Amino acid sequence: MVERDWVYLNGKLVPHSEAKISVEDRGFNFADGIYEVVRIAGGRPFRFEAHLDRFQGGARALEIELPLTRDEVREAILEVASANDVDEGTVYVQLTRGAAPRDHAFPQGVTPTLVVLAKTSAGPAPEALERGVGVVTAPDLRWGYCEIKTIGLLPNVIAYQHARSENCHEAVLVRDGLVTEGSHSSVFCVQDGVVYTHPIDNILPSITRRYLIESLRADGIDVREEGVVLESFRGADEIFLAGTTTEVMGVVRIDGTPVGSGEVGPVTRRGLELYRRDLEATRVRANG
Ligand code: PDD
Repeated sequence: MVERDWVYLNGKLVPHSEAKISVEDRGFNFADGIYEVVRIAGGRPFRFEAHLDRFQGGARALEIELPLTRDEVREAILEVASANDVDEGTVYVQLTRGAAPRDHAFPQGVTPTLVVLAKTSAGPAPEALERGVGVVTAPDLRWGYCEIKTIGLLPNVIAYQHARSENCHEAVLVRDGLVTEGSHSSVFCVQDGVVYTHPIDNILPSITRRYLIESLRADGIDVREEGVVLESFRGADEIFLAGTTTEVMGVVRIDGTPVGSGEVGPVTRRGLELYRRDLEATRVRANG
């Protein structure tokens, strides 16, 4: 059988089983690193430049010097997707400060570790998009730099595990009484035709969120980047999630209580249509 499980590690494509990282990698010891998840549609990265911008911005914010130019990162991602025959799926990119004897201070003269993995995936389950999903609420226990997409995800992992233990699709995080975002997605609600979502203030600048706000506004829908208190959020007409691995997904139950009509609402459906339109444009360009 042909090996189809290739990983990019520090400048080389290697079989997954041979990709080894030091036990002193600072990603392992301190979660000292950043990541990106990029959707692949028709063999092409979707909203690629926006992901590269955020990745480079995160590296700068943490003072991790990318060992590759932007073009080389782009090349590495395309190479991994192609080596693994990923036509529809995701690419995961992770950059850490590198391996050095354990010491809290940034090490000098160390080469950062860059890993790229690709996997085939059809995207979210069609039933989840069609019928909507349940969510739980959980306290947002993260730190003060949520704008940086760091690999330090333990608060997100704990919140998501709580969601899974309740057979729910996502945990909606609440900080100072306001809904911020999900453990791995952005969160919106709709009240009287107006869409609300938390401003980019200690939340992840989600790429899906940004494009969705623009597309909904271009469609004539009023979108406000304002925090919503949990009680109003629970009483909203519609709630939806958005993200690279989520698309635009209706929430029909929150902590076991139905949301609005109990079905995926019209603004959510329109958001998904607009998202799919852009995704399809990426596939068409790939074939054109
Ligand atoms: N998560 N908020 C959080 C906390 C996230 O982790 C993500 C993405 C999003 C959506 O961002 P974007 O639209 O840029 O994908 C919002 C990725 C997919 C993950 O951790 O797997």
